Amino acid sequence: MTQPQHAARTIITIEHAGEHVDSTVTIQGWLYNQRESGKLLFPIFRDGTGVLQGVVSQKEQPEAFEALKGLTRESSVIVTGTVRAEARAAGGFEMHISGVEVVHRVSDSEPYPIQPKEHGVDFLLDRRHLWIRTPRQAAILRIRAEVERAARNYMDGQGYTLTDAPVFTPAACEGTSTLFEVNYIDDQKAYLTQSGQLYVEATAAALGKVYTFGPTFRAEKSKTRRHLTEFWMLEPEAAYAHLEDMMQLGEGLVSAVVRSVVKNRPRELATIQRDVAKLEKIVPPFPRVTYDEAIKVLQKAGNPAKWGDDFGGDEETIISKEFDTPVIIHRYPAAMKAFYMATDEQRPELSLSFDMIAPEGYGEIIGGGERQSNYETLLKRLREHNLPEESFQWYLDLRRYGSVAHAGFGLGLERTVAWICGTEHIREVIPFPRMLYRVYP
Ligand code: 4AD
Ligand code: MG
Repeated sequence: MTQPQHAARTIITIEHAGEHVDSTVTIQGWLYNQRESGKLLFPIFRDGTGVLQGVVSQKEQPEAFEALKGLTRESSVIVTGTVRAEARAAGGFEMHISGVEVVHRVSDSEPYPIQPKEHGVDFLLDRRHLWIRTPRQAAILRIRAEVERAARNYMDGQGYTLTDAPVFTPAACEGTSTLFEVNYIDDQKAYLTQSGQLYVEATAAALGKVYTFGPTFRAEKSKTRRHLTEFWMLEPEAAYAHLEDMMQLGEGLVSAVVRSVVKNRPRELATIQRDVAKLEKIVPPFPRVTYDEAIKVLQKAGNPAKWGDDFGGDEETIISKEFDTPVIIHRYPAAMKAFYMATDEQRPELSLSFDMIAPEGYGEIIGGGERQSNYETLLKRLREHNLPEESFQWYLDLRRYGSVAHAGFGLGLERTVAWICGTEHIREVIPFPRMLYRVYP
């Protein structure tokens, strides 16, 4: 410990190092890595906001040198030194170290398990609680936070009120095959919510324009790079709104979010080596194709899709390849969409639905549309889908008392962040992913 306790210290975070060139400051973090070169040490520190290379010489700062020499990775340290501009260092600055306080030294007999080399993904996922310390992972999580903040700002700015939906629900929203059943009090059955939609339909009739933003759950048996069993969804819903209103809101929301990330998280985008030029092209309006047209595009590309088929990842990728921005596909066949969808009056075989497909093969980031507002039709659809009528009485009430046209959508947070970050797999964009065979850590 070379830094006297009583000295007045300027404690900074690494992201602000550039504002303190030529002054003496203190950072509180961890030793990320270290290169030793004779009588010089080049430690790299991280503090969650970035990484900063330091330099210390044995001759000039013997105490600091001794404290750092042989120090184990991920030991926690408080380091004082002078910030210098250094073009060759990552981030453009380095610290000439004068004082080091080792807060907790990682034992030599139990070294930090994640080394700066390639590890298998299962090894890393088993140690996700440590893996998130890696600068790339921390940068992704900071971008995720920016996406959440920008999305809320945009919705609030459009006059939408946040109304949180429950997690325990009495029935399915998105089909019964992916429901998580829980043993509720006194052996009552409840289910983890698949979507807050039905509840925001109620709050929309109470408050006008609303949204919910929270975790949703699906017992997805599919093991793809786009599926989690627990994921976050932002779901707007508006009374007196139609399909067209929601397509516009969706493209406004997605482009505002991308703009915010590009503006406010350039360091993180650089850390993960994202091609920012691709993100800068995300400006509304987004191209729109009807389901009918999409089928033609697929057939032209040699895909065997025929009218009435649902689109999987392959089909989505073929269509999105034609564009640099997300693309909106609208008016899917009613038969393949959920029970609550309104149908097109001109062509009742079509639903007033839309999906937004991200570029670069990231797939569907938004699903939504206009809701069935007629009591009799909705009841008929519930019966056709074999859904328990008693559990939906409250939902039918919304069509008994002052029913109006209303519409909304769900934006999948992790799909959106995975696309913005350009990550291989969606599991990297949530702090603790829950997947088919993983609920640890
Ligand atoms: O298209 P989905 O199923 O739509 C709904 O749940 C509607 N009730 C939403 C609404 O209208 N309020 O899901 C919406 C979005 C998808 O576009 C996708 O981005 C994401 O949620 N999503 C998933 N993300 C990760 N893992 C999964 N298993 C997902 N399932 C859906
Ligand atoms: Mg969908």
